[in-house]
Amino acid sequence: MAELIAADKAMDAALALLSAGEVVAIPTETVYGLAGDATNGEAVARIFEAKGRPRFNPLIAHVADMAMAERIGVFDPLSRNLAEKFWPGPLTLVVPLRPEAGIHPLVTAGLDTIALRMPMGFGGKLIARLGRPLAAPSANTSGKISSTSGEAVASDLGGRIPLVVDGGSTPVGLESTIVKVEDGKVRMLRPGGVAASEIEALAGAPLLRGATAGIEAPGMLASHYAPGAALRLNVGKVGAGEALLGFGPERAEGWQQARAFLNLSETGDLREAATNLFAHLQALDRSGAASIAVEPVPSDELGEAINDRLARAAAPRDNLHV
Ligand code: TXA
Ligand code: MG
Repeated sequence: MAELIAADKAMDAALALLSAGEVVAIPTETVYGLAGDATNGEAVARIFEAKGRPRFNPLIAHVADMAMAERIGVFDPLSRNLAEKFWPGPLTLVVPLRPEAGIHPLVTAGLDTIALRMPMGFGGKLIARLGRPLAAPSANTSGKISSTSGEAVASDLGGRIPLVVDGGSTPVGLESTIVKVEDGKVRMLRPGGVAASEIEALAGAPLLRGATAGIEAPGMLASHYAPGAALRLNVGKVGAGEALLGFGPERAEGWQQARAFLNLSETGDLREAATNLFAHLQALDRSGAASIAVEPVPSDELGEAINDRLARAAAPRDNLHV
């Protein structure tokens, strides 16, 4: 079983394991990451193995500073502006890869681009100490909900990894927003912890949406982030035996009969809702209900990413290849 060590005591143990090509679960401001040295193929293979993840899905390389980022990727002026404004933080930039950077091809799944992100807190310090980028997908079994606490990681992956660095609950609670600059325009490949409107304000133009042809779209398999229970979205009335995931001060009809009830945000605050999303889904799943009814969540600001994750969690499971 993985050791669970508090972040303020875990630096040396994490460094020793990562230097030896092992994987370590670490807290970031978005969700927990399952980190390995991005220049070490064996370490990257261990990440895929522990997650049970299809190998065609490329990983984000996490960096400590802009200098490290520019050694790995080629930054056009707009990508650099985005990095300067949102890093460290919940934004991932897809940029052309420098082949000489030493990133193992398993990280990029053979693409000539790379997804880069500079995380806040423990992760950033760890990468600076290690002096090498860390490949890190979300620390969960492939196809399951991302983990937002050290205990959630330990109970999901604990039998397969040596160390979970426990940094408590992750403040953003959703994965990063992934963008790619194409001919001076910003394409959003995955909504996430930075709202589209914040990026549009910097870019000065509406974002392009969806994946570019030929590139595996992030989020990718329609059924992703799936709990065990079925999900029913935009519910106005709770069915018999269902658990209820609420949003805001007003309740769906029949809510008193729900087998279990949790509210993403009493006050209807989308940031709070994002933070609670995965932990609440996991908790309602544990209630044993066969179905989780979800009240409507508005799609503006962080609501776009929340609805994206809910839609994936509700998608039919037969296309889950893992
Ligand atoms: O907040 C986050 O982004 C978390 C934390 C741990 O940093 N990480 C995360 O990683 O969500 P992961 O592997 O679960 O999702 C990364 C997504 C994948 O869906 C992948 O398809 C996409 O990034 N991606 C990676 N490299 C790409 C590339 N070169 N072009 C397009 N998409 C890429
Ligand atoms: Mg993930």
